[in-house]
Amino acid sequence: MAALPGALPLLGHAPLFARKPLDFLASLSAHGDLVRLKLGTETAYAVCHPTLVHQLLVADRTFDKGGPIYDKLREFGGNGLGTCPAAAHRSQRRRIQPAFHRDRMPGHALVMAQEIAALTSPWQNGQFLDVPAAMHQLTTAVTVRCLFDADTDRSGFPTVQSSIDALATGVTRRLMWPVPLIHRLPTPANRRYERARLHLRQITDALISDFRSARAGVGENLMSVLTAPDANGVYLSDAEVHDQVISFLLAGVESAANALSWAWHLIGTHPGVQTRLHTEVDTVLADRPAGLTDLESLELTGRIVTETLRLFPPDSLATRSTSTDTVLGGHPLPAGTTVIYSPYQLHRRGDLYPDPDRFDPDRWQDIGKPPPGTWVPFGGGPRKCIADTFSRILTTLTLATVATRWQLRPAPGQTVRPARQVVVAPHTLSMRLHRRRTDTHQGTAT
Ligand code: HEM
Repeated sequence: MAALPGALPLLGHAPLFARKPLDFLASLSAHGDLVRLKLGTETAYAVCHPTLVHQLLVADRTFDKGGPIYDKLREFGGNGLGTCPAAAHRSQRRRIQPAFHRDRMPGHALVMAQEIAALTSPWQNGQFLDVPAAMHQLTTAVTVRCLFDADTDRSGFPTVQSSIDALATGVTRRLMWPVPLIHRLPTPANRRYERARLHLRQITDALISDFRSARAGVGENLMSVLTAPDANGVYLSDAEVHDQVISFLLAGVESAANALSWAWHLIGTHPGVQTRLHTEVDTVLADRPAGLTDLESLELTGRIVTETLRLFPPDSLATRSTSTDTVLGGHPLPAGTTVIYSPYQLHRRGDLYPDPDRFDPDRWQDIGKPPPGTWVPFGGGPRKCIADTFSRILTTLTLATVATRWQLRPAPGQTVRPARQVVVAPHTLSMRLHRRRTDTHQGTAT
């Protein structure tokens, strides 16, 4: 095990991380498979080798949810599915899984198609599009409708998005500057964070009370399974339903929107890939929106999604805390040790991906399942993203359907770079819309 050089007193490696988070993460594997570092005064271990990451992900009871990221997320997500300890996880996952069963996907795909049409219908040829804002609008609408079965009063969406944004920024700041006192001062940034917490709490309460009064226990969407009794007749308390809803809002809206934004950027800056994408969608779809049954034929589109999630996995890192004394890669780790794994670090390893910074969807051609621990944008093991299939469907259908009619071209003179935060999001991304077809979508999604 190697110790990372360059730690400062009190702050540790936080300033290095804060300056360029993604470069910092990508540099870790040069120091070994398991790297000791300091976040503030706390010691943490970064797990850099795919085999060890796989071991960590599979052993979810030993490497339990915890460490600085999950400690912060629990402040507003309580003990929802994504943040709860392993002891509570199995029963929660069993209760919620039906909302993501494959039988639910045709219904979700239809909602996605409707929301893609609603998003693009006001678009004008030549218009500049704020791509992350547009993709957040889409993923908020899809999440709210598919999971909460809520009648979409769209007027509230922009505030949901800005609150989620403010929370993501707040969590990042708390991780990068791990000095608790700073975050209790009444600074504008801290006030924004507190306002966002409160706002999301109010939105969540409204979603729950609307649903409870109208349709509690009806159907099999997320809200129905949360408000129905489990196999033993046990109901979740209001506080537990609240934790779940807020976790899903946070997890659902942000990651898929960022993945889609990066995909448009990568497609727009790689004209060869863009031309082939247009050929594929013209051949498979002509002028109709993509549906679930098209996924298999939208082969290149699928590989673009896979490669985008490799280059820009929306969660750059996640933390765990060891629940007991254990050994990883031959090194003893006492109970309570903070452990970090980073999809971004793994995905940029030259030994796993030749020319790792190059966008090359064809590197996934004729490759079966990637070896364990090498492609982990959705994590893995029992805590793997519950919405991985849902997200792949959403991203693939969106890229294909939009590409039938629109080309998104990079705005001149713009440098697109990742924002300095734990969530891998473009700092800003404006693209110019170029209409490929003048007619409207004729058919319906299949
Ligand atoms: C491209 C889109 C997405 C990506 C890349 C992604 C990524 C991830 C990752 C990496 C984890 C595991 C984190 C860890 O190991 O600590 C996770 C878990 C989770 N994700 Fe996603 N996610 C995406 C979309 C979504 C959506 C759309 C939803 C909900 C609608 C969602 C809900 C969740 C939940 C609830 C968990 C916790 C699962 C558990 O612990 O059992 N995610 N996601």
